[in-house]
Amino acid sequence: MAVIYVTTPIYYVNDAPHIGHAYTTTAGDVLTRWHRQRGQDVWYLTGVDEHGTKVQRAAEAGGVAPQEWVDRLVDQAWKPVVGTIDAANDDFIRTTEVRHKERVQRFWEVVRDNGYVYEADYEGPYCVGCEEFKLPGDLVEPEGGGVPLCPVHGRPVEMLKEKNWFFRLSAFTDALIDHYERHPEAVQPTSAYNEVMSFLRGGLVDISMSRSSVSWGIGLPWDERQVVYVWFDALLNYITAVGYGAPDGSDESQFFHETWPAHVQLVGKDILRCHAVYWPAMLMAAGLPLPQCVFAHGWLLVGGEKMSKTRLTGIAPSQIVDHFGSDAFRYYFMRAIQFGQDGSFSWEDMSARYTSELANGLGNLASRATAMVQRYRDGVLPTPGPATSAEEALQAMMTVMAAEADDAMLALDFASGIGAVRRFIDAVNLYVTEQEPWVLAKDPALSERLDTVLYTMCEALRAIAVLYNPVMPKAMSSLWDQLGAGRSIGPLGEQRIDAVARWGQLPAGTAVSKGAILFPRLEESAE
Ligand code: MSP
Repeated sequence: MAVIYVTTPIYYVNDAPHIGHAYTTTAGDVLTRWHRQRGQDVWYLTGVDEHGTKVQRAAEAGGVAPQEWVDRLVDQAWKPVVGTIDAANDDFIRTTEVRHKERVQRFWEVVRDNGYVYEADYEGPYCVGCEEFKLPGDLVEPEGGGVPLCPVHGRPVEMLKEKNWFFRLSAFTDALIDHYERHPEAVQPTSAYNEVMSFLRGGLVDISMSRSSVSWGIGLPWDERQVVYVWFDALLNYITAVGYGAPDGSDESQFFHETWPAHVQLVGKDILRCHAVYWPAMLMAAGLPLPQCVFAHGWLLVGGEKMSKTRLTGIAPSQIVDHFGSDAFRYYFMRAIQFGQDGSFSWEDMSARYTSELANGLGNLASRATAMVQRYRDGVLPTPGPATSAEEALQAMMTVMAAEADDAMLALDFASGIGAVRRFIDAVNLYVTEQEPWVLAKDPALSERLDTVLYTMCEALRAIAVLYNPVMPKAMSSLWDQLGAGRSIGPLGEQRIDAVARWGQLPAGTAVSKGAILFPRLEESAE
């Protein structure tokens, strides 16, 4: 069975992670968990980009050797952040690993043998922040003249003059245009597709694939005075990590054929060109298939500008997670910002949504349902009586909502997917308010009606727990325990999204218990 392979960019370890990095990793994790709960075989890769000028200079400034610098940052900051946001990645690649280095060298030998590498002089602008050779149209002129600025970093570019090995990128202009015309889904969203097409239609020029003035990198197999240009080392992580270049017939090589091409490669819009132009051209040059989709999401903004360490606007993921919890972090960023567009984070907005949608919306429904089953039925889920139009309406809504959520999540429209479930939660809360189970409980003649309402609340929560599990795995696992569903149905992670809408899965007789509050009220002071 082909594996659904999902990747994030690999992050530069020149500094500590901020919520912009965690944003991409969260999105990939939510998507991966969603596919898993559809019964699909999934592989989720993230990792770090350790070579290049930027990291080399950061290490120098820190007064340590680059290897020592990256080892320390990867262990103390980059690997832990994956746990902070509760991401369940299958692998974590470091570009200083031997498996990566050897396979990168093998790849470039293949491309050179195929005739796409030649030696020449490079002279032009370079942005160390982007680690990119810039084209004249990429730069902005500073007020009052002087060295042009990189628009992403707002800093002057450096002028390079060095003898390099070049990659014959220009040979792939037509093939890439042709490919994307036939596969418009291969670059998403549409704005990103249009940007790539217009760049391609302008014609591609050859680009350095090596650096002679940088020492921190992977040596060229045929010229030891040079290292592979950091992007042409880093992009290869997507295939080296899953076994490209492993001996033919080995398990690793077999795995490569099962995973590659990737199902979706998530990137920030700042690195779209590298992923939708350079990367597929490299793959074509090596005779390998292209990823099915590169999805470019927007930026987290602070004061209208991209959040970044360079601009000192980075917020550490733990600052938010320590206060709101990892579930709320994941929920908020997937729910509040349309994936593919820019968005601003604010503590006020996050607090407001936490309170209204999580604590009051879902949390309140869960605690009402479990507390009432405990109080009125000694914690045993009753057999429902006949459904009235109120229950039928909720059941019908659940079917529509589950299909809507599935369509949206598969299209990486996380906000709409979550929104569909949230509207269902609101409808169930309204149902409870209208049915007034606390009034029914006072009249023994209405006992069967109360059974129906209690059952309906818990069965709706069963479906909500399954659909929200990819977004908020900790809280949903706690809800699953409170519903007693683990014992009566089985582990939450094994519940299939494509079967979630079938009404009546939670068996009567299940032991329901009121557990810890899912989304506790927040301390006022923590902001
Ligand atoms: N190392 C390269 C990528 C190589 S991939 C083969 C790189 N690294 S980075 O550390 O700068 O991180 C880039 C990614 O981090 C972005 O593409 C995006 O996914 C994420 N983000 C970093 N800052 C971000 C925001 N302010 N907002 C949203 N995402 C951001 O580029």
